[in-house]
Amino acid sequence: MEKPRQPTEPYRVKSVEPIKLLARQERQQKIEQAHYNIFNIDAADIYIDLLTDSGTSAMSNRQWAALMMGDESYAGAQSFRRFEKVVKGIFGKKFVIPCHQGRSAENLMFSTILKPGQYVLNNTHFDTTRGNTQHKGGIAVDLPCPEVDAPVPLPFKGDMDTRRLEAFIEEHGREKIAMVMMTVTNNSVGGQAVSMKNIKEVSRICKKHRLPFFFDCARFAENCFFIRRDEPGYEDKPIKEIAAEMFAACDGVMMSAKKDGLANIGGFIALDDEELYQRITDLMILVEGFPTYGGLAGRDLDILAVGLEEVMDPDYLQYRIDQVKYFGDILMQAGMPIVEPTGGHAVFIDAGALLGHIPAEQFPGQALTVAFYLEGGVRVVEIGSLMFGGTDPVTGEKLSAPRELVRLAVPRRVYTNSHLDYIAEVAARINARKELLGGFKISYQSRFLRHFTCKLEVIAPRNVEVNS
Ligand SMILES: Cc1ncc(COP(=O)(O)O)c(C=O)c1O
Repeated sequence: MEKPRQPTEPYRVKSVEPIKLLARQERQQKIEQAHYNIFNIDAADIYIDLLTDSGTSAMSNRQWAALMMGDESYAGAQSFRRFEKVVKGIFGKKFVIPCHQGRSAENLMFSTILKPGQYVLNNTHFDTTRGNTQHKGGIAVDLPCPEVDAPVPLPFKGDMDTRRLEAFIEEHGREKIAMVMMTVTNNSVGGQAVSMKNIKEVSRICKKHRLPFFFDCARFAENCFFIRRDEPGYEDKPIKEIAAEMFAACDGVMMSAKKDGLANIGGFIALDDEELYQRITDLMILVEGFPTYGGLAGRDLDILAVGLEEVMDPDYLQYRIDQVKYFGDILMQAGMPIVEPTGGHAVFIDAGALLGHIPAEQFPGQALTVAFYLEGGVRVVEIGSLMFGGTDPVTGEKLSAPRELVRLAVPRRVYTNSHLDYIAEVAARINARKELLGGFKISYQSRFLRHFTCKLEVIAPRNVEVNS
């Protein structure tokens, strides 16, 4: 098969950061010391880091310049006013609450509105959204669309199942539901896009039942790009107009701005409800900071004010989505079964399909994750039974992951296409010896979000063989 054409970057490089590949033996030592949990490995010991696209973007020259304009006043800083203006301009809401990252927005929101035992409905909860819901005694329910696991590259696999949404509301009643959420793009099912049609239908249902409708919009610009590219009627619309149409359908947003804010830290809540704004900001003074800085430095707010506009540049978005697609194509050529179509921010390998000999309870995704580090110093992350399995800390129910995926998240504007080529070579080497990989068992886990800190042990002797 012919190698796909590399997309060309719409920027040039002004500053570089050296990276180093440790020797195989050192990598073996590091992963053992980390108890086979890649979160426990120092960044200096990683060659190419695809753990996340969150907070890992390279800033532009305009963002570095904006940083110098930071106003570090405690209250009413000019940086906040600039940030607020940009957020209002894109998201169209009356009140803007800066937070230091997405999960602090979630914590503030759920601490304020969620009553124990209430449901939060989502196309698919991201792990921190689920964790924060559960932490406040709520029950997180996922309603992905029926096509989500279809083995064909349909364009809007991130949609919510609106039939199930209506049925759930009918069955449980609106008082039992704290809010309906839409995660764009839908990270946990493969960074898949959500269509405008689906957003509007969810909005209509929420209005009918007088339920609050909020976005988890960490990757809103990537979602808007997919709508423009794949949804009839949007092909000529500017990204900003698509965003305005999307957010007009909701009551508010929570955003981890570490993704499509093109920043290394930051987040916010934007909403119209004044009373809710007041209650959230009353709480945030206790836990996050004064409402005009919300746990961030003034310079962070200025960086975001530039990044949130820059991310909607059509040339940037075209390159971004093409680069992830290119990565997916070369990984497939290397023998990796991937979730198709490739999403906005990552390629997801179906480790369950690749490593059919490792049962879900032995974490095939983690076996592949460990193999990427050992084989090439590449850090990727398991999104399967390790992340989503175990026991529900609130209900005590046994949880299971829909699929055994491994996510290779692509940081924005950071790695070149030759870095991606290198990873595809690593993948081909793993594929050639995949039968030798074995499973893992957990020797320590925390109650919430266990994958971040758990410790693992090799259970299959053949894993030791391939790892040595
Ligand atoms: C969809 C989604 N929501 C929320 C979060 C949490 O944001 P943060 O990491 O800034 O706390 C993430 C982070 O990856 C995410 O992808």
